[in-house]
Amino acid sequence: MELITKITEIIQEAGDIVLSAKDVLSCTHQKTSAADLVTAYDVKVENFLKEKLLALVPDAIFFGEEEQERQDPTKGWAFIVDPIDGTANFVRDLGQSAISIALLKDGQPEYAVVLDPYRKNLYTAKRGCGAFVNGQPIHVSERPLSQGIFGMGTAPYNKDLHARTLEITRRLFDRSCDFRRMGAAVLDLCAVASGRLDAFFECELSPWDYAAGSLLITEAGGTISTLEGAPLPYSHKCTIWASNAVNAGIREEIQD
Ligand code: IPD
Ligand code: CA
Ligand code: CA
Repeated sequence: MELITKITEIIQEAGDIVLSAKDVLSCTHQKTSAADLVTAYDVKVENFLKEKLLALVPDAIFFGEEEQERQDPTKGWAFIVDPIDGTANFVRDLGQSAISIALLKDGQPEYAVVLDPYRKNLYTAKRGCGAFVNGQPIHVSERPLSQGIFGMGTAPYNKDLHARTLEITRRLFDRSCDFRRMGAAVLDLCAVASGRLDAFFECELSPWDYAAGSLLITEAGGTISTLEGAPLPYSHKCTIWASNAVNAGIREEIQD
């Protein structure tokens, strides 16, 4: 069986854990602030994925959001995992969260598997082989931003970035039809890869937020980089600009 099929089976089981959640508020704790939450389900899903994924690729590094200690994921094989992306949505039962798995080799994403358990959408990509949802090919849109809608994230855990976030949002809003803030970065990236959004930015995302989505976007014909135009580092936080091919250049127009 192909590696990606095995990862798919594992993520579906993790999705069942998310869907089985009950009484989430009673097992929710603050991390760095009231905006930054973790639940017992984030930890349960991450532990499950760690055990199953390392059994599949025993010499891989496991770089998960809820890990206490992390190794550099840009050396050799590495899983970069967000057990629940959109935890604030999960706590509020908003039905907009996902599980995100990327497998990198020497700092380059080779596989991406993302599950939206609520809509039962499974996004997959293998480098050089295209991007898919539930087995059907996906592509970025061809819409210019002037006729499009962009997604954005608010970098909610870093108040120092809020003013810059709103200023970039205003500049993009002036050039577009509208924008969305949906609360799960990997699903925003999947929406760009699927052509439902025409661009996306956030002033700070971690590797577990952007690793899988980045491969889905490039395999769907889009582009992704930092807001400054640098390649994504995969080892630490950075700014993110993702778009279809038509809107790639707008990144330079919205700089401070
Ligand atoms: C967060 C979500 C949110 C984004 C934050 C992320 P989490 O991930 O993706 O949309 O704005 O920057 O940290 O904490 O729910 O896994
Ligand atoms: Ca996340
Ligand atoms: Ca998370």
